[in-house]
Amino acid sequence: MAKSFDELINTRQSCRSFSGKPVEKEKLEQLIEAVRLTPSACNSQPWRLITVSGEKAQPVREALQLMGRNKFTQECPAFTVFVERPATLKAGIAEMLGSQKFAQLDVGAAISYYTLKATDLGLDTCILGWFDEKKIVKTFNLPKNEKVRLIVATGYAVDGYEIREKVRKDTGEIAEYIGD
Ligand SMILES: Cc1cc2nc3c(=O)[nH]c(=O)nc-3n(C[C@H](O)[C@H](O)[C@H](O)COP(=O)(O)O)c2cc1C
Repeated sequence: MAKSFDELINTRQSCRSFSGKPVEKEKLEQLIEAVRLTPSACNSQPWRLITVSGEKAQPVREALQLMGRNKFTQECPAFTVFVERPATLKAGIAEMLGSQKFAQLDVGAAISYYTLKATDLGLDTCILGWFDEKKIVKTFNLPKNEKVRLIVATGYAVDGYEIREKVRKDTGEIAEYIGD
């Protein structure tokens, strides 16, 4: 049975123990579709996704082995590299007039869509910001005007991997409500 939205946000968690079970291509396509529908500033859609799986993902696994971090990704079957593209002219002008770099925020929103859709499909993910960017740029021959933002490890957790209780600040520390 489909999970409610509340269940999705409560059960999405960083997986650091992948089983190695391959991810079905149709599911990877559904994740990409979720990103395609993500909102962005001026509808700029300043992202490019590179999804790799199986043996083809080996260079990404290697780029993730940085200073002993992210070792668990060695068992992960698939990854999506989130690359930020230059904003469209309209979004670029909006950025110049304001004080925000929208594209980076847009990529963050896209990753939320991706990871929640993955949870909906019974997949497990881990957002990864710690990687050897130069290796990724070289592997995919990325142009200078594109920036690798994050990589999302995507697969199935080992059997019995438990849903952890969320470690989060209290509501009062992060939010205020002003109103009647
Ligand atoms: C931008 C970003 C970068 C992250 N980079 C890493 C990383 O390199 N390695 C890792 O194990 N987890 C990484 N994480 C996962 C966070 O540690 C995790 O989301 C946070 O501790 C909350 O835990 P949860 O995802 O299980 O709810 C990253 C998360 C974000 C949003």
